[in-house]
Amino acid sequence: MKRVWILDRSEPQAADILSGLSSLMYEASVWLDAAAMLEAARADAPDLIIVEQGIDSMGLMDVLRAIKRLERRVPVIVVAEQTSTQGAIESMREGAYDYLPRETLPGGLEDAGRRALSNDGGMIQAIGSPGPGDVAELGAVIGKTPEMIEIHKLIGQVADTDAPVLIQGESGTGKELVARALHYNSSRRDSPFVAVNCSALLPESLEIDLFGRGGEGGKCGPSRMEIADGGTIFIDEIEAMGLENQARLLTILEDGYFERPQSRKRVKIDIRVIAATSASIVGRMKNGDFRVDLFYRLKVVSVFMPPLRDRRDDIPCLAEHFLSRAAAKMRRDINGIFPGAIELLQEYPWPGNVRELEQAIQRAVALNRTGVMMPEDFETLCEGQESWQGLSFGQGAGLEAAVRYEFKRRFAAEETDISGTIVSEMERVLADAALAAVGGNQVKAARLLGISRNTLRKRVEKV
Ligand SMILES: Nc1ncnc2c1ncn2[C@@H]1O[C@H](COP(=O)(O)OP(=O)(O)OP(=O)(O)O)[C@@H](O)[C@H]1O
Ligand SMILES: [Mg+2]
Repeated sequence: MKRVWILDRSEPQAADILSGLSSLMYEASVWLDAAAMLEAARADAPDLIIVEQGIDSMGLMDVLRAIKRLERRVPVIVVAEQTSTQGAIESMREGAYDYLPRETLPGGLEDAGRRALSNDGGMIQAIGSPGPGDVAELGAVIGKTPEMIEIHKLIGQVADTDAPVLIQGESGTGKELVARALHYNSSRRDSPFVAVNCSALLPESLEIDLFGRGGEGGKCGPSRMEIADGGTIFIDEIEAMGLENQARLLTILEDGYFERPQSRKRVKIDIRVIAATSASIVGRMKNGDFRVDLFYRLKVVSVFMPPLRDRRDDIPCLAEHFLSRAAAKMRRDINGIFPGAIELLQEYPWPGNVRELEQAIQRAVALNRTGVMMPEDFETLCEGQESWQGLSFGQGAGLEAAVRYEFKRRFAAEETDISGTIVSEMERVLADAALAAVGGNQVKAARLLGISRNTLRKRVEKV
């Protein structure tokens, strides 16, 4: 029979965990003293150890490290009363098998326990050893929803590997923040983190910026790749990189050097590559604008940042975080957020994601006169929200408002080709709706819309 040990603060809390394991075949022992448990484990290790994050007999990280040093590899599941970014990342870095919020008990623990017990080989490899003061930067990736906890765990698992990472997600979801978190949790943390945005420059200028220039005009200072040598390069909006730059990046990933443009001189480089995109790379690959081999090289580790509207439970803690930051920065005395205001923030669809929330709070703090954030402080959002809802409820009047709203939003984001993107998005929605109305028959749907079948197909395929 498998043996499971539980290390907790008190008997009743341990009983709680025990109940989470009720349907597994196991023999459980409860420990309240970490040192005693570790000593026993050195003599005869169990098959699984479950540790409460807040144990007070010894620091959690010390316990995890000691378990890692046991002769036999024992999977550890950390159960947390109050989940924290830092707790999740640090636990996974120290080789924990999983990190679970207590409220997911009993079901979550049962699943994780079964997995840990059934397949020792599937254990996550412990990565590197943490240096001093690691996670300082990390407290910043805020979020308590299961989606965000998964991301914290992933950061902990892959930070200290040199694996390339591809971060995908809508604008403002925190892609750059996660890239920084990966850097500051890796042993490259004392070397530079260099960010470059591919859509800010034309491919030719980007080439000089990234890789320098050889030959005649060669004296233009070190390239970004060389500045980032030893550290991490963060390549944002990578889909706009251009094919020549993609080829150079690929040789860096495969062979650790690049060829200086116009001189063919090889420059050796030791760099970790993190890329991000908010567009569809798949679509670009279909068109031949993005190299398939590079895509697969980059997405060795793939992170998907969920849009804020899909994790509304994170809105209160994010709002409080931005509120206290903005209040401190603007030296305003704000005592809190009225519950009605939080509700409103939770209802709004946040097309600009966390960045939009951050800006809405900053604006509200700047304008607030009462010392408490009220729903009125977010009036401008309400305007947008009405039009948004107008669209989703399909009311005629809503269409004009929705288009105006979409225009305002894109205008504020300094987007170009506003007409093209809004119109093609509307065409896609129409095509979708028509297909749904006629059970997916393209001929009928095209006739309904008064367009050709080919046009319909093109509109549906647009991502
Ligand atoms: N989970 C989070 N916790 C705290 N702050 C966050 C979080 N996610 C995003 N932010 C903040 O929101 C803003 C936008 O984040 P970031 O720049 O990382 O997004 P992005 O995905 O790179 O956006 P874009 O695609 O527009 O470049 C930043 O100020 C960042 O600090
Ligand atoms: Mg970004």
